[in-house]
Formats: sequence, C-alpha cells, structure tokens
Amino acid sequence: MASERSSVAEGGLIIQDFLPELKGSHLADSIVDGLMKEPKEIPSMFFYDERGSKLYEMITELPEYYPPQVETKLIAVAADSLAQGLRGHDIVELGSGDCSKISILLDRVPPADIPTLRYVPVDFSRSAVEESAANLRTRFPGMDIHGIVGDFLSHLDCMPDGRDRLLAFFGSTIGNLEKEKAHGFFQELKEVLRPGDEMLLGLDMVKDVTVMERAYNDSQGVTAEFNLNIVNVVNRLIGSHLDPNSFEHLAFFNPNESRIEMHLRAISPMSIELDGLEAPITIEEGETIHTENSYKFTMERIERLVGSAGLAIRERYTDENGWFSLLRLGN
Ligand code: AVJ
Repeated sequence: MASERSSVAEGGLIIQDFLPELKGSHLADSIVDGLMKEPKEIPSMFFYDERGSKLYEMITELPEYYPPQVETKLIAVAADSLAQGLRGHDIVELGSGDCSKISILLDRVPPADIPTLRYVPVDFSRSAVEESAANLRTRFPGMDIHGIVGDFLSHLDCMPDGRDRLLAFFGSTIGNLEKEKAHGFFQELKEVLRPGDEMLLGLDMVKDVTVMERAYNDSQGVTAEFNLNIVNVVNRLIGSHLDPNSFEHLAFFNPNESRIEMHLRAISPMSIELDGLEAPITIEEGETIHTENSYKFTMERIERLVGSAGLAIRERYTDENGWFSLLRLGN
C-alpha cells in the first residue's frame, strides 16, 4: 500500500493526499521517458492540472461531447433502483472530478439516510477533491467525506475499509487504459471488492465514426485547447520551454484498436534541453506526440474484461441508440 504524505481532518471531513510521493522526479521521469520514445507520447493523466480539469468540465458541456449527456440519464435511472438500499454504505468514486454525477445518485437517497453515508472521492487533482468536498458538505449535510488525492490505479487499496461499498467509475475513464492495464484494473478490483460490494461502471460504446470523431473535434476548439494544455503541464514538470501554440490538435478513430486517439502535431521543429540529458530531445516539424487513447467498447469486449476478473454484470443500463452503457457489477 502506498504511504500517505499529508492529511487534513475536521468534523466529518478527511482529505488524504497520497500524491506527493509521486511528485517531482518520478513524474518528470515518466514524461521524459515518453518523449524519448519513438513515436513520442505523454501519459494522459497529465491533462488534469487545474486548468486542464476546468477545460475538461467545459468539454462535458459541449453539444458534440455526448457521453456525459447520455450517462447522466442512465445514472438517474440506475439511481432510482439503488438509492433506497445504501444506508451505511461507503460510496467510493474513482476520478470524482466535480462530483456532479454522484450528486444525481445522492439526490435520490432518502434524506434520513444521508448522515449514514460516507462519500470517498478519489481524484488525481487535489483542488477537485477539496472543492467538491466543500460543495457536497453544504448540499448533503451530515454526510461524512473522506477524500483521497491519488491515482486510482495505484491507490485502489488506499480506500477506507469496514463498510459495504458502492464504487462508481463514471465517464468511461477506464477507456484511457491500454488493454493489459484495463485487465490489470479489473484483476485488482476483484481483490478489493467483497461480497455485497458493487460497482457502477460507465463505458462509451463503438458507434458511427462521425459521431465519435466530432466528440473530440468540437467546433469551439475546447478539446484542442485541452490537448494543447498538456504542453504547459510538461513545461512545469520537466522545466522545458515548449510553446503550446507550436502544436496542432489531432483526434481520430483508430478502428484496428477501437479507440479515439489524440495527438499533438508539431507545426515547427523544437528541441528540449535538460540538465542530465546528454543530447537535447528534438521534435521535428510534422512529428506527433500521442497524448490520449479513449477506447470504445462492444458488449463482447466488456463481457470478456469483466468475466476474466470473475466479476458479474448484474444490470446494464443503456440509451435507445446504444451509445453508452452503465453497468452494475458485483462479485
Ligand atoms: C475523461 C477520459 C473519459 O476519453 O473521452 C475528453 C477525456 N479527452 N475529450 C474521454 C477526453 C478528450 C475523456 N475521459
């Protein structure tokens, strides 16, 4: 288990930060490693600094970016059958962001049950955890909150123990993981889930290519800005001086891998000089840096993923077009 570096606690609210141990050199190393690969890549978790998290929130409000619109409706339907049975539960949300999705569920919990709940938001962004904790404490008085700042992949075992749990993993965020990593995640989930625990998992499905590609090439250019912002995060973490405007945004569906890929394409040559590197890292004009994969699922693939970890699909909620799935998983 990862060790905790800092925590704050006041009546009913705890925030534990597991991230500082990853900060500094580790993060910088993982970026430099990616930039020395052929083709170059930057891990997509680096999108989410404060500005990146705000830009992502803006993406979720774009007309072209259908997943939140569809998923929100599915959560409301699922909540109607779940909300009565949550007394005394821990509700653990992986990648909690602004907590708007879990609020759909919490809004349907009988008010008398709210003080029996403990909400556990897990997010890579400390500001997201702090702001949403403050927000939920006013909206749902009496509910305990135990925030975890960390990476839900390495910190799944850091969540509090001892009560029945409902895990929530919305937004098809698991689609960011490569196939092996996704398998690893379900394997670990199997270890963590005990009888009686359940998970709500949102997954974006394969559909018409135009619809998928438009969702990542919006007309207002917010997704482009989100993609370019990762350059600022890189600059801050490794001490480089790359100009985000020397790149253009690229997003397309790769049918062989069943995923949307985002890349940055250099519109002019660049070079990165860092202490401790024998030679500068060079970026050629036209060269691309792979910044994100967003896998799109089929029911076959979902059944394989879930089944290989020995988990069962208890319920599947989907929209009339089959664009998105919300699954209730159990042991
Ligand atoms: C937050 C990972 C689910 O993959 O669709 C949105 C991130 N990237 N637009 C996604 C994202 C570009 C999003 N996830």
